[in-house]
Amino acid sequence: MKHFVTKDKQSISQFALGTMNLPLDDREELSEIIRLAFESCINYFDTADLYQYGKNEAVIGSILFDYGQFFEYNIGTKVGNEFDAALREKIKWNPSAEYIKHAVSQSKLRLSRDVIDLLMLHGGTVHDNMDETIREFESLKRKGDIKSYGISTTRKNVIDYYTENSDISVLMAPLNIIDNRSEEYLSDDYVFLARGPLMQGLLTENYDVALKTKFKHGYMGYSQDELREIILMIKEYGYPLEAIAYKYLMNKNVVIVQGVSTVSQLKKNLRHYETAKTIRDEVIEDICSKVEKKHYKEHRDPKTVTHQEDNDKKNVLKKLRKKISQP
Ligand SMILES: NC(=O)c1ccc[n+]([C@@H]2O[C@H](COP(=O)([O-])OP(=O)(O)OC[C@H]3O[C@@H](n4cnc5c(N)ncnc54)[C@H](OP(=O)(O)O)[C@@H]3O)[C@@H](O)[C@H]2O)c1
Repeated sequence: MKHFVTKDKQSISQFALGTMNLPLDDREELSEIIRLAFESCINYFDTADLYQYGKNEAVIGSILFDYGQFFEYNIGTKVGNEFDAALREKIKWNPSAEYIKHAVSQSKLRLSRDVIDLLMLHGGTVHDNMDETIREFESLKRKGDIKSYGISTTRKNVIDYYTENSDISVLMAPLNIIDNRSEEYLSDDYVFLARGPLMQGLLTENYDVALKTKFKHGYMGYSQDELREIILMIKEYGYPLEAIAYKYLMNKNVVIVQGVSTVSQLKKNLRHYETAKTIRDEVIEDICSKVEKKHYKEHRDPKTVTHQEDNDKKNVLKKLRKKISQP
């Protein structure tokens, strides 16, 4: 298994496990998933204080703690959403230093850890006091409460601010071969954690179920039928959709943060991850040339989208001209 090393010297396996959709109430299935993850050399687990209002951190933290005597691993969690665990509801967005300090102490307790490997801000806007949040992250790092910090957001203006004014070691955002909007955020400044690698199951053999349940009303400006057309186009290349999805992310040099709800999904996905290594780069390049390049249009200077789209169009035209001029 390939590993990425962050600027804080943390090792993150290329295939990582997102814990948001794990079956917390089925301890047998859950233990099997975690055991398989460790046996497959996965060493990074992604959670958040908000997932199941603290329960995810508590349940996953206790299982990982037990495995800690046998395996080395890193756990990443997130902060910034104030919630009421008893009422199981979100109270408000709160990236203040005081709240982050309090939330981190609670996360450490739930995770049974003295130090959190990676703490991410779970969202954020440019209207927050971003300097205050950054100062608190730095202070937690100095005091040894966290080893590193990052941000999970899709907002370009927020990403730009943190990149320029902080020492984030990771950026988490959705990225897959259809939802390519975050491609412009790929950078050597941080390790990119790609969430949604199988687009909620759309990029799996169960794509038809996902289309009918999760994408009934389309997504990202695509209708349900347009999404089906893209899936069928990718299938024509003769590889499992999952393997194509993973190979795309491997070529982008990002961490694949895969979420699963059953051990059978994880088993299959790990097999597809191996198959992905056998797919030629040209196959992915060809598919990508047929999928529209999308961009986040909000939370940025609108001029930069137009500029980007102009460039994308120029590139598509260049490719077409090249094809026409070839004998
Ligand atoms: N804002 C944030 O920071 C944020 C937001 C979202 C997620 N995340 C993190 O990113 C992780 C991954 O994101 P994601 O869960 O959206 O990833 P994803 O790969 O897009 O979706 C995972 C879901 O896809 C389905 N799936 C996975 N493998 C499958 C297979 N082989 N066959 C059929 N269906 C399959 C399952 O759906 P079913 O559950 O329906 O079976 C699974 O729960 C999360 O676990 C979480 O840790 C972070």
